[in-house]
Amino acid sequence: TERTLSIIKPDATRRNLTGKINAKFEDAGLRIVAQKRIQLTIAQAGEFYAVHKERPFFGELTEFMASEPVVVQVLEGEGAIAKNREVMGATNPADAAPGTIRAEFAESVGENSVHGSDAPETAAQEIAFFFSGLELVG
Ligand code: GTP
Ligand code: MG
Repeated sequence: TERTLSIIKPDATRRNLTGKINAKFEDAGLRIVAQKRIQLTIAQAGEFYAVHKERPFFGELTEFMASEPVVVQVLEGEGAIAKNREVMGATNPADAAPGTIRAEFAESVGENSVHGSDAPETAAQEIAFFFSGLELVG
């Protein structure tokens, strides 16, 4: 089985949507094997999203991610990376398929409720960014 890193973003924690979003993951067969609520600094958000640092929205993105608490979690399951991205829906909620998290809950392309790793290498890096081995049980 595969693991992926998920973040429930500030727009969703603010609106008390953690449980509804987790139900979508669990209904899709993804198991939440680690989870914690934290508040990032702008520097930590910038380190996490370093791949986007040349993008025009980088400042907005990192300020948003540090603006309020997030829930970081590890999801596990068969094909978890692709399955999670399917459940999340397209980056822009206007393009997200009906029933996806972003279609139902996201407010805009910037405040789009969830993050999910996009490949095995980034999943491994992103899980290690937030969780120690001790926090990861099967
Ligand atoms: P993540 O799972 O968060 O990585 O989303 P993604 O893989 O669907 O999108 P991508 O990696 O291309 O972009 C990362 C994040 O940057 C998105 O989830 C958005 O929150 C943000 N983002 C992307 N485009 C824009 C934009 O045009 N404006 C703003 N403010 N944010 C954007
Ligand atoms: Mg991405």
